[in-house]
Amino acid sequence: MTTSVIDLTDLDLFTGGDPHAVWKELRAEHPVYWNATAQGGFWALTRMEDVTAAYVDAAAFSSRQGTVLGGSYRREADSASGRMLIASDDPQHRLLRQQIHKAFLPELMERARRAVRGGVRAALDRFQNEGGGDFAREVAPELPAGLLAVMFGLGRTDALHLLSLTRSMIGFQDPAYRSSSAGATGLAATQVEIFDFITALVEERRRSPAEDLVTILLNATVNGRGLTEDEILYNCLNVAVGGNETTPFTAAAAVQTLIDWPDQAAVLNSEPDCLPTALDEIFRWTSTNAYVQRTATRDIDLHGRRIEAGDSVTLWNASANRDESQFADADRFDVRRTPNRHIAFGVGAHRCIGMGLAQMEVGLLLQEIATRRLRFEPDGPPRQLRSNFMLGPTHLPVQVRLP
Ligand code: HEM
Repeated sequence: MTTSVIDLTDLDLFTGGDPHAVWKELRAEHPVYWNATAQGGFWALTRMEDVTAAYVDAAAFSSRQGTVLGGSYRREADSASGRMLIASDDPQHRLLRQQIHKAFLPELMERARRAVRGGVRAALDRFQNEGGGDFAREVAPELPAGLLAVMFGLGRTDALHLLSLTRSMIGFQDPAYRSSSAGATGLAATQVEIFDFITALVEERRRSPAEDLVTILLNATVNGRGLTEDEILYNCLNVAVGGNETTPFTAAAAVQTLIDWPDQAAVLNSEPDCLPTALDEIFRWTSTNAYVQRTATRDIDLHGRRIEAGDSVTLWNASANRDESQFADADRFDVRRTPNRHIAFGVGAHRCIGMGLAQMEVGLLLQEIATRRLRFEPDGPPRQLRSNFMLGPTHLPVQVRLP
């Protein structure tokens, strides 16, 4: 097996190493880096300028072959290509996005905000009363649970079940998150479980429509026809994973960050007007969705390297968001940072459709922390998700200190 000196698929780097030091080196020395792997390899773009240019040039950098390296959404693995929002190119992408966008309108956002706020407040009350606990397990899941309950019209138990299924899928390389029933077949079996769950939900909504995403997709039309069963399933899956597997990691990583930067945590608690800039800085700093994958549709020459048609190309948001040519003192967490042109939600046509919801969720959490003037202290070692795609703690034992 040929492996590179720097290997961005080495998950030890993401659990116990320092990926930011590696990205810094890549930005400086190898801005177009070939990361060889046993399966072949992929290119890694790490500078803000190159990552942004690739996002915008969707004709040259296609999403159709999937956005996760060797994982979910691959054409061969699940035939989502061209049918799932995130794994499609224009014009299909634009048509799908117009339909799915209907589930992200203000009325639903407002219902989701109330549900998330209720869940977060109750979880923080419990947490405070007990003097702390594992923030990643006891508080962070409340962010997507409230949202998913509203978006899929689910009760709390079902919302938490869907959360555990998507977690097994995104964390398929992490033994702690693999679904017990997934066994040796791992990812594929977990996807089947999720599809079964969503299929049952679609059947139920056919019988009794509700004000939720599933009903919106059942009534959607693209090019004068309704969506196929597969399209409905894939896009429910896309929103469920997008909604579930990002904000809880951002929330837990935010608390970890406030522990690591006590001076900035103090500013957040004493100067509430810094909330908007603090929120953006949390997204830049945590960059939960570390990279997205694209496939080159033609030969591309960049910084003296040739990317060939058909090659896999990864765009590293987490690296671009620390690019020293874009951010003054890029390795400093600064809740008053402005301007802050981070790309935690991607750029261009595929920019996160749930960005407003994510801002609402994590914003609510920061506001609660600031209003309650909570301070967190470590109460045991944290544990990072074993993934190079989603970054964040799966366990974060902390003690809560009140003013
Ligand atoms: C901190 C939270 C979040 C981060 C960091 C994040 C990040 C991203 C990024 C980088 C993309 C671009 C993917 C690409 O270009 O291939 C994306 C797309 C997407 N996100 Fe998010 N996301 C977050 C929250 C959410 C939420 C809450 C939802 C749903 C409720 C969601 C649903 C989606 C969907 C459906 C897409 C595909 C959009 C498209 O292809 O047009 N995300 N997200």
